[in-house]
Amino acid sequence: MIAAIGKNNELGKDNDLIWHLKEDMQFFRENTIGKPIIMGLNTFYSLPHLLKNRQHIILTHREIDEDNIFVFHDIYKLLSFIEYYKDEVMVIGGASIYSQFIEYANKMLLTEIDQEDKDADVFFPYFNEKEWNKTILKEVNENNINYNHVKYVRKLSK
Ligand SMILES: NC(=O)c1ccc[n+]([C@@H]2O[C@H](COP(=O)([O-])OP(=O)(O)OC[C@H]3O[C@@H](n4cnc5c(N)ncnc54)[C@H](OP(=O)(O)O)[C@@H]3O)[C@@H](O)[C@H]2O)c1
Repeated sequence: MIAAIGKNNELGKDNDLIWHLKEDMQFFRENTIGKPIIMGLNTFYSLPHLLKNRQHIILTHREIDEDNIFVFHDIYKLLSFIEYYKDEVMVIGGASIYSQFIEYANKMLLTEIDQEDKDADVFFPYFNEKEWNKTILKEVNENNINYNHVKYVRKLSK
């Protein structure tokens, strides 16, 4: 999973991102390019255009009339479909998708932003840090906003 979150796990508001950070967009690009990307319908509609060189996989109850995307109506069918992918599949949001996929994820790339937004209306799900190995990949300051790229890898269960 890959997400950018505020201090209170803020993810977005009004079906848009809260923070628009150039370096973070580059981080997102580098970590998703060439990989299938799973998203919910709202996130799909929030994109300005299809993202280059990434197979879009949309989870929705509706039919979508769009070329070159895969559409699934059932999370379990989607999970069995991606089991056959040898390479990494990235879950890119939004909130409802992260909540449903977190139990299946073995890696999370979180951009942890040192800011709050009281108007946020969607949040990343709670997770127990003790169940994950945490590595800070990079500390960034962009336009006086501090944020870290953090990798969480799920600890193997005993
Ligand atoms: N900060 C970040 O890194 C980040 C990343 C991505 C998105 N976001 C933000 O997150 C917000 C969007 O999140 P969201 O939770 O509102 O929407 P979402 O997760 O993108 O999409 C939700 C929609 O996906 C469909 N869906 C979800 N689970 C499904 C299932 N099991 N089966 C079939 N369809 C399913 C439903 O669509 P239908 O039932 O209508 O078909 C549902 O209304 C926006 O503000 C966006 O900017 C932030």
